[in-house]
Amino acid sequence: MSEGFYSHAKLYDLMFPGGGPAVDFYRTQADRQGGTVLELGCGTGGKLIPIAADGHACVGMDLSAEMLAEAERKAGERGVAAEWVQGDMREFDLGRTFDLVFIAANSLLHLHDAASLVSCFASVRRHVAPGGRFALDIFNPSVGLLSEADGLRHTRESLSFVDPDRGDVTVDVAEAYDAADQVTRGTWYLSTVAETDFVVAPLEIRSIFPQELPLLLSLGGLRLVDRFGDWSGAPFTGSAALQLCICEAA
Ligand SMILES: C[S@@+](CC[C@H](N)C(=O)[O-])C[C@H]1O[C@@H](n2cnc3c(N)ncnc32)[C@H](O)[C@@H]1O
Repeated sequence: MSEGFYSHAKLYDLMFPGGGPAVDFYRTQADRQGGTVLELGCGTGGKLIPIAADGHACVGMDLSAEMLAEAERKAGERGVAAEWVQGDMREFDLGRTFDLVFIAANSLLHLHDAASLVSCFASVRRHVAPGGRFALDIFNPSVGLLSEADGLRHTRESLSFVDPDRGDVTVDVAEAYDAADQVTRGTWYLSTVAETDFVVAPLEIRSIFPQELPLLLSLGGLRLVDRFGDWSGAPFTGSAALQLCICEAA
């Protein structure tokens, strides 16, 4: 229920310009591991293109043809070589292993049921080379914030951006939390003064609570070896914004 959101790849990059400590973190992981890198849910390549530019052989996989096309275009523009593959992280077989596999920026949370998450982790496990690592970052669900999702439309000032073709774009989001499924179901509305709601797209994001994560990983044959609470490597705590995880084969 989020494919429509990712069919607007250029708008995605304008809304989420990326860069910063998340890119630095994954670049450091790739350098530490050396060798080959696979990113699942790579989107438009905001993290993978800099890693490929550092000299690592990179494969990016994504469900969205539009996001992959934009990644390929950007990599080509920068003269960076990488392989872009359309596929579903729930179940995949690339027929080779990698020194680093990662899933960044909450991409994992597009998998909603436990069976899909375990199946994804089992596929990841089959693609981790001996001595290789799996890294991921997802948000740390705050019960307070989840309960604030009231189903009404609110403007997200921090996400406003300028589209070179359309001008100033405002972003409204209406979302509600489905506690049984642990999924926040949202609708995103993009508007300009001239064109209200020129994009209306659903986006559904699961919450994975801290105690669940190691169990799901272990069912897929992976072991959580480190969990940080922010990009500086601070220890994970209940109030941390992030669950930034490093895993190995179990
Ligand atoms: C939040 S974006 C993150 C993109 C990129 N990793 C980044 O850091 O900018 C999530 C991406 O996950 C992709 N995605 C969602 N479900 C997927 C699935 N089942 N398999 C592969 N990719 C998926 C979406 O198409 C989208 O490009």
